[in-house]
Amino acid sequence: MNTLDPQTFRKAAHRTVDWMADYLESIEALPVRSPVNPGAVFDQLPDDPPAIGEPIESIMHDFRSVILPGMMHWQHPNFFAYFPANSSYPSVIAEMITATMGAQCMMWETSPAAAELEEKMMSWLRKMTGIPENFAGVIQDTASSSTLCAILSARERLTDFAVSENGPGAFQPFRVYCSAESHSSIEKDVRIAGIGKKNLVKVGMDDSYRMDPRALARAIEDDTAAGLTPLCVVATLGTTGSTAIDPLREIAEITSRHSLWLHVDAAFAGSALVLPEYRWMIDGIEHVDSFVFNPHKWMFTNFDCSAYFVQDPATLIRTFEVVPEYLRKHTPTPVKNYRDWGIPLGRRFRALKLWFVIRNFGVEHIRERLRHHIALAKELEQEIDLSPDFELLAPRTLSLVCFRYKPAEVSNEEQINKINELLERTLNDSGKLYLSHTKLDSRYTLRIVVGQTSVQRRHVMEAWKFMQEKARSLKFQ
Ligand SMILES: Cc1ncc(COP(=O)(O)O)c(C=O)c1O
Repeated sequence: MNTLDPQTFRKAAHRTVDWMADYLESIEALPVRSPVNPGAVFDQLPDDPPAIGEPIESIMHDFRSVILPGMMHWQHPNFFAYFPANSSYPSVIAEMITATMGAQCMMWETSPAAAELEEKMMSWLRKMTGIPENFAGVIQDTASSSTLCAILSARERLTDFAVSENGPGAFQPFRVYCSAESHSSIEKDVRIAGIGKKNLVKVGMDDSYRMDPRALARAIEDDTAAGLTPLCVVATLGTTGSTAIDPLREIAEITSRHSLWLHVDAAFAGSALVLPEYRWMIDGIEHVDSFVFNPHKWMFTNFDCSAYFVQDPATLIRTFEVVPEYLRKHTPTPVKNYRDWGIPLGRRFRALKLWFVIRNFGVEHIRERLRHHIALAKELEQEIDLSPDFELLAPRTLSLVCFRYKPAEVSNEEQINKINELLERTLNDSGKLYLSHTKLDSRYTLRIVVGQTSVQRRHVMEAWKFMQEKARSLKFQ
């Protein structure tokens, strides 16, 4: 019998915390991307579960020898890919406490402190980011789910909750609008919402990959004339490809004119709103119906933690509230039951890690770190700009730099794409750093995001040096 008793749990947990501290302290020695081949981890795992329990020591041993080599080290300071999912010591401590209590925080009664801390944290985040006072917030798992909530709420408001009641009936087809650079989750949500991919209208952009408001207005007018039903516009602050910022006020004027739901996806860039110098991004916010950003991307809070704000919580609640008898509770005064503010019933206690992070960092230190990341990205951008065989491919708004290698002797676009694909593979195979790519105007674009909690100037500059060396030694002729 190896089930832990309190004493062995205490010892094993202390050893685990030592492992955690060592791991984070020595993470730079690990390859950023796991070098394992597909199936390598699976093949090392037994086909059948153990009939008799095993001691934690042997499980930890196998964790180190089998699982760890198969992990991407997302907290590595040389992780520059996608958008970060950065974390921090206070956040990790809070996650340990959350796991220890194992509370399921679906409604006020099932943990009053969780509901009330969530309400307070969303109010802190609202103030930190300059979102107006009349917005109410709730923590969701991801931006994908938050945007789905927005689209479903839009559908219910437009149909006076008739779709919820009777099914789609005569209302289809609804039309949802975003730019071609908006995140794939918008398309996924439109599909899940039963609106249909073909009713997601990807409107044109300007040279900086921002939604073109005139193209949006035209698309809405054309659809209306064709008897379709414009429903919702999703504006992106910080597109995944290049962190382009859609012009919110101009978009908001159009959605207000046509009484459409306006949702803002600021999954990554929203964290930058803690910096007053970036508040211009939300000029027009008073016309926005819903807004999402992910503290789990760039605010040192472990995945998952997505902050979803709405102007009218009553619409959100009416869209999602179902109260079966077994969940009916009497409370002396009205309370917040966040199970009615989104899709799942069960909810993790996510507010705790936000509380630990915001209190331990303080708003000023969060600002300092973000400014540091942005300054490093700016320095990298300048270096790339000065380099004759590299080329910047999009304006830098925050801490993402989009670029490519363009050796003087190659002018064929297809070949340049292939060279950059090869360069990305070579860099990532090295294990020294990890970056990702997108395509902007069919050009294979390398993306470096400076957003790791522990990233320093030396990491970025060494990465840049390494990229140049690798690029110039590529054999592509
Ligand atoms: C702009 C944007 N929106 C949405 C998402 C999806 O985020 P999540 O994983 O929280 O659903 C991402 C992910 O990177 C993103 O960049």
